[in-house]
Amino acid sequence: MNSIRNPFAPGAGTPPPELAGRDSVRQEMRIALARIRAGRAAKSMILIGLRGVGKTVLLDEIRRDAIEADVHALRIEAPESRSLPAMLAPELRLVLLRLSRAEQVRDLAEQGLRGLAGFVRAMRVRFNDIEVGLDFEPEPGLADNGDLEHDLQTLFELTGQAAQAADTAVAIFIDELQYVAEDQLAPLITALHRTSQRSLPVVLIGAGLPQLPGRMGRAKSYAERLFNFKEIGPLEPADARLALSKPIRAEGEEIDEEALDRLTEVTRGYPYFLQEWGKHAWEVAATSPITLADVDAASRSAVADLDESFFRVRLDRLKPSEKRYLRAMAELGPGPHRSGDIAEALARSVQSLAPTRSSLITKGMIWSPSHGDTAFTVPMFDDFMRRSMPGDDWLL
Ligand SMILES: Nc1ncnc2c1ncn2[C@@H]1O[C@H](COP(=O)(O)OP(=O)(O)O)[C@@H](O)[C@H]1O
Ligand SMILES: [Mg+2]
Repeated sequence: MNSIRNPFAPGAGTPPPELAGRDSVRQEMRIALARIRAGRAAKSMILIGLRGVGKTVLLDEIRRDAIEADVHALRIEAPESRSLPAMLAPELRLVLLRLSRAEQVRDLAEQGLRGLAGFVRAMRVRFNDIEVGLDFEPEPGLADNGDLEHDLQTLFELTGQAAQAADTAVAIFIDELQYVAEDQLAPLITALHRTSQRSLPVVLIGAGLPQLPGRMGRAKSYAERLFNFKEIGPLEPADARLALSKPIRAEGEEIDEEALDRLTEVTRGYPYFLQEWGKHAWEVAATSPITLADVDAASRSAVADLDESFFRVRLDRLKPSEKRYLRAMAELGPGPHRSGDIAEALARSVQSLAPTRSSLITKGMIWSPSHGDTAFTVPMFDDFMRRSMPGDDWLL
Protein backbone atom coordinates (compact mmCIF):
# COMPACT_ATOMS: atom_id res chain seq x y z
CA MET A 1 0.00 0.00 0.00
CA ASN A 2 1.02 3.61 -0.29
CA SER A 3 4.33 4.06 1.59
CA ILE A 4 3.80 7.75 2.07
CA ARG A 5 0.72 7.04 4.16
CA ASN A 6 2.32 4.24 6.17
CA PRO A 7 1.47 5.32 9.75
CA PHE A 8 3.90 3.13 11.70
CA ALA A 9 6.92 4.61 13.38
CA PRO A 10 9.62 2.22 14.59
CA GLY A 11 12.51 4.08 16.20
CA ALA A 12 13.95 4.91 19.62
CA GLY A 13 11.79 7.64 21.11
CA THR A 14 9.72 8.05 17.92
CA PRO A 15 6.12 8.91 18.87
CA PRO A 16 3.74 6.11 17.82
CA PRO A 17 0.61 6.84 15.79
CA GLU A 18 -1.40 5.45 18.72
CA LEU A 19 -0.01 5.36 22.26
CA ALA A 20 -1.91 2.27 23.34
CA GLY A 21 -2.38 0.89 26.82
CA ARG A 22 -0.79 3.72 28.79
CA ASP A 23 -3.84 5.72 29.84
CA SER A 24 -3.80 4.66 33.47
CA VAL A 25 -0.13 5.57 34.02
CA ARG A 26 -0.69 8.92 32.36
CA GLN A 27 -3.75 9.56 34.49
CA GLU A 28 -1.86 8.62 37.65
CA MET A 29 0.88 11.06 36.69
CA ARG A 30 -1.55 13.85 35.91
CA ILE A 31 -3.00 13.47 39.38
CA ALA A 32 0.46 13.38 40.98
CA LEU A 33 1.52 16.55 39.13
CA ALA A 34 -1.70 18.35 40.00
CA ARG A 35 -1.20 17.40 43.66
CA ILE A 36 2.36 18.68 43.71
CA ARG A 37 1.25 21.93 42.11
CA ALA A 38 -1.39 22.28 44.80
CA GLY A 39 1.28 21.88 47.48
CA ARG A 40 0.26 18.34 48.40
CA ALA A 41 2.43 15.28 48.80
CA ALA A 42 3.05 13.05 45.78
CA LYS A 43 5.88 10.71 45.01
CA SER A 44 8.39 11.01 42.25
CA MET A 45 7.84 8.31 39.66
CA ILE A 46 10.22 6.10 37.74
CA LEU A 47 9.21 4.11 34.65
CA ILE A 48 11.04 0.81 34.56
CA GLY A 49 11.18 -1.59 31.66
CA LEU A 50 13.12 -3.36 28.96
CA ARG A 51 14.35 -1.64 25.81
CA GLY A 52 11.63 -0.92 23.30
CA VAL A 53 8.61 -1.04 25.63
CA GLY A 54 7.94 2.66 25.13
CA LYS A 55 9.44 4.36 28.18
CA THR A 56 10.85 7.34 26.27
CA VAL A 57 7.68 8.14 24.35
CA LEU A 58 5.63 7.76 27.53
CA LEU A 59 7.99 10.06 29.41
CA ASP A 60 7.62 12.65 26.64
CA GLU A 61 3.86 12.31 26.75
CA ILE A 62 3.78 12.80 30.52
CA ARG A 63 6.01 15.81 30.02
CA ARG A 64 3.52 17.29 27.57
CA ASP A 65 0.76 16.68 30.11
CA ALA A 66 2.88 18.46 32.73
CA ILE A 67 3.45 21.49 30.53
CA GLU A 68 -0.24 21.63 29.77
CA ALA A 69 -0.88 21.70 33.52
CA ASP A 70 1.48 24.70 33.85
CA VAL A 71 4.23 22.71 35.50
CA HIS A 72 7.80 23.63 34.63
CA ALA A 73 9.14 20.51 32.98
CA LEU A 74 12.80 20.08 32.27
CA ARG A 75 14.05 17.16 30.25
CA ILE A 76 17.39 15.44 30.43
CA GLU A 77 18.67 12.31 28.80
CA ALA A 78 21.53 10.73 30.69
CA PRO A 79 24.16 9.62 28.22
CA GLU A 80 26.79 7.21 29.45
CA SER A 81 29.49 9.83 29.72
CA ARG A 82 28.11 13.15 31.00
CA SER A 83 27.94 14.13 34.63
CA LEU A 84 24.62 14.84 36.33
CA PRO A 85 25.60 18.42 37.31
CA ALA A 86 26.53 19.14 33.69
CA MET A 87 23.11 17.97 32.50
CA LEU A 88 21.10 19.60 35.28
CA ALA A 89 22.71 23.03 35.49
CA PRO A 90 21.63 24.48 32.11
CA GLU A 91 18.08 23.14 32.52
CA LEU A 92 17.67 24.46 36.05
CA ARG A 93 18.96 27.81 34.86
CA LEU A 94 16.23 28.03 32.21
CA VAL A 95 13.55 27.17 34.75
CA LEU A 96 14.85 29.77 37.22
CA LEU A 97 15.07 32.41 34.51
CA ARG A 98 11.50 31.72 33.49
CA LEU A 99 10.35 31.86 37.10
CA SER A 100 12.19 35.14 37.65
CA ARG A 101 9.94 36.92 35.14
CA ALA A 102 7.03 37.09 37.56
CA GLU A 103 7.25 40.03 39.96
CA GLN A 104 6.31 38.15 43.14
CA VAL A 105 8.84 35.40 42.42
CA ARG A 106 11.78 37.45 41.18
CA ASP A 107 13.73 37.64 44.44
CA LEU A 108 13.50 33.93 45.14
CA ALA A 109 14.32 32.97 41.56
CA GLU A 110 17.32 35.29 41.53
CA GLN A 111 18.47 33.77 44.77
CA GLY A 112 18.19 30.42 43.00
CA LEU A 113 20.32 31.73 40.14
CA ARG A 114 22.95 32.90 42.62
CA GLY A 115 22.87 29.43 44.13
CA LEU A 116 23.29 27.99 40.66
CA ALA A 117 26.32 30.19 40.05
CA GLY A 118 27.92 28.98 43.28
CA PHE A 119 27.00 25.40 42.48
CA VAL A 120 28.54 25.56 39.02
CA ARG A 121 31.71 27.22 40.24
CA ALA A 122 32.18 24.65 43.00
CA MET A 123 31.30 21.66 40.82
CA ARG A 124 33.60 22.63 37.97
CA VAL A 125 36.51 21.46 40.07
CA ARG A 126 35.21 17.92 39.95
CA PHE A 127 33.10 17.87 36.77
CA ASN A 128 34.88 19.65 33.98
CA ASP A 129 32.05 19.04 31.49
CA ILE A 130 29.77 21.74 32.95
CA GLU A 131 28.90 24.39 30.40
CA VAL A 132 26.34 26.98 31.35
CA GLY A 133 25.90 30.73 31.18
CA LEU A 134 25.69 32.43 34.55
CA ASP A 135 23.46 35.40 35.12
CA PHE A 136 24.41 36.39 38.66
CA GLU A 137 27.44 36.38 40.92
CA PRO A 138 27.52 33.54 43.43
CA GLU A 139 26.61 34.30 47.02
CA PRO A 140 29.31 32.91 49.30
CA GLY A 141 28.02 29.94 51.25
CA LEU A 142 25.07 29.29 48.95
CA ALA A 143 25.27 25.85 47.28
CA ASP A 144 29.00 26.28 46.78
CA ASN A 145 30.73 24.08 49.32
CA GLY A 146 31.80 21.56 46.68
CA ASP A 147 29.99 18.56 48.11
CA LEU A 148 27.46 17.45 45.49
CA GLU A 149 25.09 15.95 48.05
CA HIS A 150 24.92 19.14 50.05
CA ASP A 151 24.93 21.62 47.18
CA LEU A 152 22.36 19.86 45.02
CA GLN A 153 20.04 19.75 48.00
CA THR A 154 20.35 23.52 48.45
CA LEU A 155 19.86 24.11 44.75
CA PHE A 156 16.69 22.01 44.67
CA GLU A 157 15.38 23.80 47.75
CA LEU A 158 15.98 27.21 46.18
CA THR A 159 14.28 26.07 42.99
CA GLY A 160 11.38 24.60 44.95
CA GLN A 161 10.89 27.79 46.95
CA ALA A 162 10.75 29.86 43.78
CA ALA A 163 8.31 27.43 42.16
CA GLN A 164 6.15 27.45 45.26
CA ALA A 165 6.01 31.25 45.28
CA ALA A 166 4.93 31.08 41.64
CA ASP A 167 2.16 28.58 42.48
CA THR A 168 3.69 26.05 40.18
CA ALA A 169 5.92 22.99 40.36
CA VAL A 170 9.13 21.79 38.77
CA ALA A 171 9.21 18.31 37.26
CA ILE A 172 12.61 16.97 36.30
CA PHE A 173 12.35 14.39 33.53
CA ILE A 174 15.39 12.15 33.18
CA ASP A 175 15.57 9.37 30.61
CA GLU A 176 18.09 6.50 30.75
CA LEU A 177 18.52 7.15 34.45
CA GLN A 178 20.46 3.89 34.87
CA TYR A 179 23.46 5.59 33.27
CA VAL A 180 23.82 8.15 36.06
CA ALA A 181 26.83 7.10 38.14
CA GLU A 182 25.98 5.83 41.60
CA ASP A 183 27.94 8.60 43.34
CA GLN A 184 25.75 11.15 41.52
CA LEU A 185 22.54 9.16 41.85
CA ALA A 186 22.79 9.23 45.65
CA PRO A 187 22.92 13.06 45.84
CA LEU A 188 19.99 13.26 43.43
CA ILE A 189 17.93 10.98 45.67
CA THR A 190 18.91 12.94 48.78
CA ALA A 191 17.97 16.24 47.17
CA LEU A 192 14.54 14.88 46.22
CA HIS A 193 14.10 13.45 49.68
CA ARG A 194 14.77 16.89 51.08
CA THR A 195 12.27 18.71 48.86
CA SER A 196 9.70 16.05 49.64
CA GLN A 197 10.25 16.45 53.40
CA ARG A 198 9.88 20.20 53.11
CA SER A 199 6.81 19.85 50.87
CA LEU A 200 8.53 21.81 48.11
CA PRO A 201 7.12 21.24 44.61
CA VAL A 202 10.07 19.49 42.93
CA VAL A 203 9.66 15.97 41.57
CA LEU A 204 11.58 13.58 39.40
CA ILE A 205 9.96 11.62 36.63
CA GLY A 206 12.51 9.17 35.38
CA ALA A 207 12.82 6.20 33.09
CA GLY A 208 15.34 3.42 33.01
CA LEU A 209 16.19 -0.23 32.58
CA PRO A 210 15.28 -2.89 35.14
CA GLN A 211 18.62 -2.54 36.93
CA LEU A 212 17.64 0.95 38.06
CA PRO A 213 15.61 0.21 41.24
CA GLY A 214 18.48 -1.91 42.55
CA ARG A 215 21.00 0.79 41.72
CA MET A 216 18.91 3.42 43.45
CA GLY A 217 18.40 1.20 46.48
CA ARG A 218 22.14 0.66 46.76
CA ALA A 219 22.76 4.40 46.45
CA LYS A 220 20.19 5.21 49.18
CA SER A 221 18.35 2.51 51.06
CA TYR A 222 15.19 4.61 51.44
CA ALA A 223 14.89 5.13 47.66
CA GLU A 224 12.35 2.32 47.40
CA ARG A 225 9.93 4.19 49.64
CA LEU A 226 10.61 7.63 48.20
CA PHE A 227 9.79 6.71 44.60
CA ASN A 228 6.88 5.12 42.87
CA PHE A 229 8.44 2.56 40.52
CA LYS A 230 6.10 1.82 37.62
CA GLU A 231 6.74 -1.27 35.58
CA ILE A 232 6.22 -0.64 31.90
CA GLY A 233 5.82 -3.90 30.03
CA PRO A 234 4.63 -5.21 26.68
CA LEU A 235 1.06 -4.32 25.73
CA GLU A 236 -1.89 -6.55 26.60
CA PRO A 237 -3.27 -8.28 23.49
CA ALA A 238 -6.26 -5.92 23.23
CA ASP A 239 -3.98 -2.88 23.41
CA ALA A 240 -1.49 -4.38 20.97
CA ARG A 241 -4.32 -4.89 18.47
CA LEU A 242 -5.46 -1.32 18.98
CA ALA A 243 -1.90 -0.01 18.47
CA LEU A 244 -2.05 -1.59 15.00
CA SER A 245 -5.67 -1.39 13.90
CA LYS A 246 -6.42 2.18 14.91
CA PRO A 247 -3.67 3.84 12.82
CA ILE A 248 -4.58 1.61 9.85
CA ARG A 249 -8.25 2.58 10.09
CA ALA A 250 -7.33 6.22 10.53
CA GLU A 251 -5.82 5.96 7.04
CA GLY A 252 -9.09 4.52 5.74
CA GLU A 253 -7.65 1.00 5.35
CA GLU A 254 -8.41 -2.35 7.02
CA ILE A 255 -6.64 -5.32 8.57
CA ASP A 256 -8.01 -8.87 9.02
CA GLU A 257 -8.56 -10.34 12.48
CA GLU A 258 -6.19 -13.27 11.80
CA ALA A 259 -3.54 -10.80 10.71
CA LEU A 260 -3.93 -8.95 14.02
CA ASP A 261 -3.74 -12.25 15.91
CA ARG A 262 -0.51 -13.15 14.20
CA LEU A 263 1.00 -9.70 14.77
CA THR A 264 0.27 -9.76 18.50
CA GLU A 265 1.70 -13.27 18.66
CA VAL A 266 5.02 -12.61 16.85
CA THR A 267 5.63 -9.28 18.55
CA ARG A 268 4.47 -10.54 21.95
CA GLY A 269 3.02 -7.06 22.41
CA TYR A 270 6.40 -5.27 22.52
CA PRO A 271 5.79 -1.76 21.19
CA TYR A 272 8.98 -1.49 19.12
CA PHE A 273 8.20 -4.78 17.40
CA LEU A 274 4.58 -3.77 16.83
CA GLN A 275 5.71 -0.65 14.99
CA GLU A 276 8.28 -2.52 12.91
CA TRP A 277 5.93 -5.39 11.94
CA GLY A 278 3.05 -3.01 11.34
CA LYS A 279 5.20 -0.95 9.02
CA HIS A 280 6.36 -3.95 7.01
CA ALA A 281 2.94 -5.58 6.83
CA TRP A 282 1.59 -2.34 5.38
CA GLU A 283 4.43 -2.26 2.81
CA VAL A 284 3.93 -5.87 1.77
CA ALA A 285 0.14 -5.66 1.37
CA ALA A 286 -0.88 -4.84 -2.19
CA THR A 287 -4.36 -3.72 -1.20
CA SER A 288 -6.51 -3.31 1.90
CA PRO A 289 -7.28 -5.32 3.99
CA ILE A 290 -3.89 -6.44 5.26
CA THR A 291 -4.08 -10.24 5.50
CA LEU A 292 -2.41 -13.00 7.46
CA ALA A 293 -0.36 -13.86 4.37
CA ASP A 294 0.88 -10.25 4.22
CA VAL A 295 1.98 -10.42 7.84
CA ASP A 296 3.85 -13.67 7.30
CA ALA A 297 5.49 -12.33 4.18
CA ALA A 298 6.51 -9.18 6.11
CA SER A 299 8.28 -11.05 8.88
CA ARG A 300 11.53 -11.53 7.01
CA SER A 301 12.05 -7.84 6.24
CA ALA A 302 10.77 -6.77 9.68
CA VAL A 303 13.36 -8.98 11.36
CA ALA A 304 16.09 -7.79 8.98
CA ASP A 305 15.34 -4.15 9.82
CA LEU A 306 15.26 -4.86 13.54
CA ASP A 307 18.62 -6.59 13.25
CA GLU A 308 20.10 -3.59 11.47
CA SER A 309 18.75 -0.98 13.88
CA PHE A 310 17.14 -1.91 17.18
CA PHE A 311 19.40 -4.86 17.99
CA ARG A 312 22.57 -3.91 16.14
CA VAL A 313 23.07 -0.47 17.76
CA ARG A 314 23.73 -2.16 21.03
CA LEU A 315 25.98 -4.92 19.81
CA ASP A 316 28.36 -2.59 18.00
CA ARG A 317 29.52 -0.99 21.21
CA LEU A 318 30.73 -4.20 22.79
CA LYS A 319 34.09 -5.90 23.15
CA PRO A 320 34.51 -9.39 21.69
CA SER A 321 34.55 -10.92 25.18
CA GLU A 322 31.24 -9.21 25.96
CA LYS A 323 29.66 -10.43 22.74
CA ARG A 324 30.78 -13.95 23.58
CA TYR A 325 29.15 -13.70 26.98
CA LEU A 326 25.84 -12.64 25.42
CA ARG A 327 26.13 -15.35 22.80
CA ALA A 328 26.62 -17.97 25.48
CA MET A 329 23.50 -16.67 27.26
CA ALA A 330 21.58 -16.89 23.99
CA GLU A 331 22.66 -20.49 23.59
CA LEU A 332 20.83 -21.21 26.85
CA GLY A 333 17.58 -19.55 25.65
CA PRO A 334 15.68 -16.37 26.52
CA GLY A 335 16.67 -16.50 30.20
CA PRO A 336 17.12 -15.46 32.96
CA HIS A 337 20.16 -17.70 33.39
CA ARG A 338 22.33 -18.66 36.34
CA SER A 339 25.85 -17.21 36.23
CA GLY A 340 27.15 -20.73 36.74
CA ASP A 341 25.35 -22.03 33.66
CA ILE A 342 26.70 -19.20 31.51
CA ALA A 343 30.22 -19.82 32.77
CA GLU A 344 29.84 -23.49 32.03
CA ALA A 345 28.70 -22.77 28.47
CA LEU A 346 31.91 -20.77 28.02
CA ALA A 347 34.06 -23.33 29.84
CA ARG A 348 35.19 -20.61 32.24
CA SER A 349 34.87 -19.88 35.94
CA VAL A 350 32.19 -17.56 37.29
CA GLN A 351 34.85 -15.36 38.94
CA SER A 352 36.86 -14.89 35.77
CA LEU A 353 33.70 -13.74 33.97
CA ALA A 354 32.59 -11.34 36.70
CA PRO A 355 34.22 -8.23 35.15
CA THR A 356 32.59 -8.97 31.77
CA ARG A 357 29.21 -9.46 33.38
CA SER A 358 29.46 -6.28 35.39
CA SER A 359 30.58 -4.25 32.37
CA LEU A 360 27.56 -5.58 30.42
CA ILE A 361 25.28 -4.49 33.25
CA THR A 362 26.84 -0.99 33.26
CA LYS A 363 26.37 -0.79 29.49
CA GLY A 364 22.70 -1.65 29.95
CA MET A 365 22.81 -4.94 28.02
CA ILE A 366 21.88 -7.28 30.85
CA TRP A 367 20.57 -7.05 34.38
CA SER A 368 20.21 -9.21 37.41
CA PRO A 369 16.59 -10.04 38.34
CA SER A 370 17.83 -11.79 41.48
CA HIS A 371 21.16 -12.73 42.95
CA GLY A 372 23.21 -14.84 40.57
CA ASP A 373 20.67 -14.54 37.76
CA THR A 374 21.29 -12.73 34.50
CA ALA A 375 18.73 -11.60 31.92
CA PHE A 376 18.78 -9.55 28.72
CA THR A 377 17.45 -5.98 28.85
CA VAL A 378 16.29 -6.26 25.25
CA PRO A 379 13.32 -8.51 24.45
CA MET A 380 14.04 -11.40 22.07
CA PHE A 381 17.74 -10.62 22.20
CA ASP A 382 18.62 -14.31 22.41
CA ASP A 383 17.15 -14.93 18.95
CA PHE A 384 19.12 -11.99 17.60
CA MET A 385 22.41 -13.20 19.10
CA ARG A 386 21.95 -16.62 17.56
CA ARG A 387 21.18 -15.03 14.18
CA SER A 388 24.12 -12.65 14.32
CA MET A 389 26.67 -15.17 15.61
CA PRO A 390 25.52 -18.47 14.09
CA GLY A 391 27.27 -21.79 14.56
CA ASP A 392 29.68 -22.33 17.43
CA ASP A 393 32.74 -20.30 16.40
CA TRP A 394 32.00 -17.99 19.32
CA LEU A 395 33.15 -20.74 21.65
CA LEU A 396 36.72 -20.47 20.38
N1 LIG B 1 2.10 2.48 23.90
C1 LIG B 1 2.60 2.31 22.68
N2 LIG B 1 1.80 1.88 21.66
C2 LIG B 1 2.33 1.71 20.43
N3 LIG B 1 3.61 1.93 20.10
C3 LIG B 1 4.44 2.36 21.06
C4 LIG B 1 3.97 2.56 22.38
N4 LIG B 1 5.02 2.97 23.14
C5 LIG B 1 6.08 3.02 22.31
N5 LIG B 1 5.76 2.66 21.06
C6 LIG B 1 6.71 2.57 19.94
O1 LIG B 1 7.75 1.69 20.36
C7 LIG B 1 9.01 2.14 19.94
C8 LIG B 1 9.96 2.25 21.13
O2 LIG B 1 9.57 3.28 22.00
P1 LIG B 1 10.62 3.94 23.03
O3 LIG B 1 9.87 4.94 23.82
O4 LIG B 1 11.84 4.37 22.31
O5 LIG B 1 10.96 2.68 23.97
P2 LIG B 1 12.04 2.60 25.17
O6 LIG B 1 12.37 4.00 25.56
O7 LIG B 1 11.35 1.84 26.24
O8 LIG B 1 13.21 1.84 24.62
C9 LIG B 1 8.78 3.44 19.19
O9 LIG B 1 8.80 3.15 17.81
C10 LIG B 1 7.39 3.88 19.63
O10 LIG B 1 6.72 4.58 18.59
MG1 LIG C 1 14.19 4.97 25.64
